[in-house]
Amino acid sequence: MSGQQELRYTDDVLGGPEAAERARLGAMATVCDPTSVRVLDELGVAAGWRCLEVGAGSGSIAVWLAERVAAAGQVVATDIDTGHLTDLTVPHLTVLRHDITRDPAPDAAPFDLIHARFVLEHLPEREGVLDRLASWLRPGGLIVIESIAGFPLGSSPHPQFGRAMGAIDQVLAKTIGTDSTWARRFPGPLVDRNLVDVGTTVHLPTTGGANASALCWSLTLTRLRTRIREFDLVSDDTLDEALELLADPAFFDLAFATAIAWGRRPA
Ligand SMILES: C[S@@+](CC[C@H](N)C(=O)[O-])C[C@H]1O[C@@H](n2cnc3c(N)ncnc32)[C@H](O)[C@@H]1O
Repeated sequence: MSGQQELRYTDDVLGGPEAAERARLGAMATVCDPTSVRVLDELGVAAGWRCLEVGAGSGSIAVWLAERVAAAGQVVATDIDTGHLTDLTVPHLTVLRHDITRDPAPDAAPFDLIHARFVLEHLPEREGVLDRLASWLRPGGLIVIESIAGFPLGSSPHPQFGRAMGAIDQVLAKTIGTDSTWARRFPGPLVDRNLVDVGTTVHLPTTGGANASALCWSLTLTRLRTRIREFDLVSDDTLDEALELLADPAFFDLAFATAIAWGRRPA
């Protein structure tokens, strides 16, 4: 198939206004928000902070941040596609259509906190984006980056499921340049930018029991199915079996991990 890595996230690879995408973002938030919130809370996000939420998706973390920073603070939630953010009417929260690879810093810069979850790994220019984000921090400001990480996939005890998840990994790499190995070096990219107080942790949610993680991966697999078949990465039978497993309340496995890294701009 031609056109490898010529596409972007929102070129009908993922994203878009459909109900299935809204459900996928909702399931993602159900799985990942508790860990993101715990990390942000432990890092001291507080009233009065000025925050940037990059690639905000459905805005669940932006809404939590807006409640946390309260009246003295401010949250800017950006996305290249704000379709799932326009209904949000939350005090102290501004929604901005913004391409993080090339648009100028939002007017509210510099920020006390910049948070991006599941965004940079999907952008081939992720190192340049990280340079830009680091430069938008105020002295002492905090950056938190979350990324999918593919390292659990190879050890799956369920061959069809492992192959189907691997096909998601490969098709995103081939179409939009996603790199699920980038985060394995965390917190290296933040150390490289001379940030201090760096740290990292990994969230490895269970996928199965027909839980939100299983729903999220089922919706992702269904969305990418045509492209996976166009690249002939796995058979239709394998995809059907993986989808059956994801719908089976008795099935449990691990899919992608979420690697989380943080650091501060020196004061
Ligand atoms: C996997 S979703 C994650 C959504 C949200 N951060 C979350 O974790 O629930 C990736 C998001 O990044 C956005 N995105 C993709 N490319 C972008 C870009 N160049 N600039 C800003 N946002 C982008 C997508 O539109 C989508 O909302």
